[in-house]
Amino acid sequence: MSLTEPRSVDAASHSVPSSTSLKVTIPTLQEKKRNRTPISALTAYDYAMARLVDEASVDLVLVGDSLAMVMLGHDSTLAVTMEEMVLFTRAVRRGVRRALLAADMPYASYHVSVAEGVRNALRFVQEAGAEAVKVEGGRNRVELVERLTDAEISVIGHIGLTPQSVHRMGGYRVQGKSLPAAEQLLEDALALQAAGAVLMVLEGVPREVAARITAELTIPTIGIGAGPECDGQILVLHDLLNMTFAPAAKFVRRYGDAATLIRNAVESYRKDVESGSFPSDAESYHLSAETRGRYERTGTRQPRKA
Ligand code: KIV
Repeated sequence: MSLTEPRSVDAASHSVPSSTSLKVTIPTLQEKKRNRTPISALTAYDYAMARLVDEASVDLVLVGDSLAMVMLGHDSTLAVTMEEMVLFTRAVRRGVRRALLAADMPYASYHVSVAEGVRNALRFVQEAGAEAVKVEGGRNRVELVERLTDAEISVIGHIGLTPQSVHRMGGYRVQGKSLPAAEQLLEDALALQAAGAVLMVLEGVPREVAARITAELTIPTIGIGAGPECDGQILVLHDLLNMTFAPAAKFVRRYGDAATLIRNAVESYRKDVESGSFPSDAESYHLSAETRGRYERTGTRQPRKA
């Protein structure tokens, strides 16, 4: 950490524009659906990025288990643990003031039993300050969603392309492409809504199917690779910023190139260090004039004789 002034209370407070400074809650998002005002959502995984996303007035910040891939370098989301998810969620909590903060239940945190799923979800709320949790799956998650809702935990469903099912799906494939599969997705969405889910992520489903589900549900849908008729959109922050070291999927729009920005900045730093132009005299600390005079008179110590 650089030697700077401690962060004051004022400096730590976010400069969110006043027209958008009201805290986002589940009812806010439900009202947006009723008013047909699109909901913006993004992932974030650390304090600095969470703070920037929040200051940009995004409605929903998700600490996605995609962090297994974009932050930890795994090749799927399956490896990330509860301990890691809680750690990242706590960091994001410190950066988010306005947006609704949701945490992703990682693989194996709700697959052994409903009771264990509830215990793990409670950790996100109690230890990390999450305001909602997200679980992947359809009708097979109804009991879990009911129990979480009973425990006063807001649940976000996630259907369609569910990355935790990558092996069962045989890869990351668009779901709901046949008529029976599209019908099943709608039934899953309705079952989760009836169980108490407050939002529904639709990932990797045909636009037409997402539009039908959005029209049938009373809770907001948040799409990723699900077309523009969803009530809101979510992207993985690293996709949006070109920080994934992989070709972008069809549904990703790149809004910035942080990889080039960082690479160029780091290369310039390295060159300045190697050429001796960093640090300059102005970037150095100095003795006072009086101490300097006395210090110089002490002379340089002679090296000891061998
Ligand atoms: O893990 C994640 O980032 C997600 C979103 C893409 C919805 O589940």
